[in-house]
Amino acid sequence: MTPARVQKPEGQPTRGKTASNRLRRVDNFLLLYEPSLLTRTDGRFAASFFVDLGYGFDARTTLESAARFRRVNPTLPILGVEIDKERVEAALPFADALTRFRLGGFNLPMKSGEHVRLIRAFNVLRQYDEKDFAPAYERLAEYVLPGGLMIEGTSTPFGQIWSANLARKMDDGSWNMEALVFSTNFRLGFDVEEFQTILPKNYIHRVVKGEPIFDFIEAWKRSAAETAHAKTFGLRQWFIAAAEALVRKGFKIDVKKKWLTKGYLIWEF
Ligand SMILES: C[S@@+](CC[C@H](N)C(=O)[O-])C[C@H]1O[C@@H](n2cnc3c(N)ncnc32)[C@H](O)[C@@H]1O
Repeated sequence: MTPARVQKPEGQPTRGKTASNRLRRVDNFLLLYEPSLLTRTDGRFAASFFVDLGYGFDARTTLESAARFRRVNPTLPILGVEIDKERVEAALPFADALTRFRLGGFNLPMKSGEHVRLIRAFNVLRQYDEKDFAPAYERLAEYVLPGGLMIEGTSTPFGQIWSANLARKMDDGSWNMEALVFSTNFRLGFDVEEFQTILPKNYIHRVVKGEPIFDFIEAWKRSAAETAHAKTFGLRQWFIAAAEALVRKGFKIDVKKKWLTKGYLIWEF
């Protein structure tokens, strides 16, 4: 792999807005979904990175993740990547032996012998055109170890709701789109239409008749309407009832209470 310094970062600088704890529920989701992704030390995973791609005008979300993930793996290497030089410079004072910040783009600035176990790319691709989605995924796949994961999605400014693709790196080098995840902390109530506004880039322009995401969103709306009586027991009960109604309509939803009671809806593919 080419050393970081000689590569031109692929992508475009975009707005750098972020907020403290905006991605807390993303990290909590990962810790619940597959903690071994963060803790495994077999083979090349031993010294492989969690990469926070596009961390924003300052490094707060990367540093918050470092604190969260190092509770389960105190020696987890973490790399914050930004395409904006000033944002890298702003982050560098917070770097240490395990936490690095580098200028880079979809062609990650990994050095020889470095590997990636997990990429979190949040609120990055939303500012791109839909045509840029597939090439970005393709490029990022080059760096992730087989079995590794990427969570790529969009949130509201304070992270109350978000949705994200879960992409798994396969042995043949490709991504397998494993699931589309929706998350709410219930502070904005429960309204399927709100999720429609924060869909990942590969779906947000596709909520039109004939597309699977259209059928899904419509079915979720219908499920929420049919189960509205559950609201009297609280938003969480309503969210759960709507998810169960989606299953009855034939959608593959993980209905384990550990997800639904916490406000995570996982649509598996
Ligand atoms: C809106 S901020 C998101 C910050 C943080 N991830 C969050 O969700 O709060 C998007 C950041 O992604 C950066 N960015 C855009 N394209 C990038 C790329 N290809 N590689 C690295 N960073 C990129 C932008 O410079 C910007 O700072």
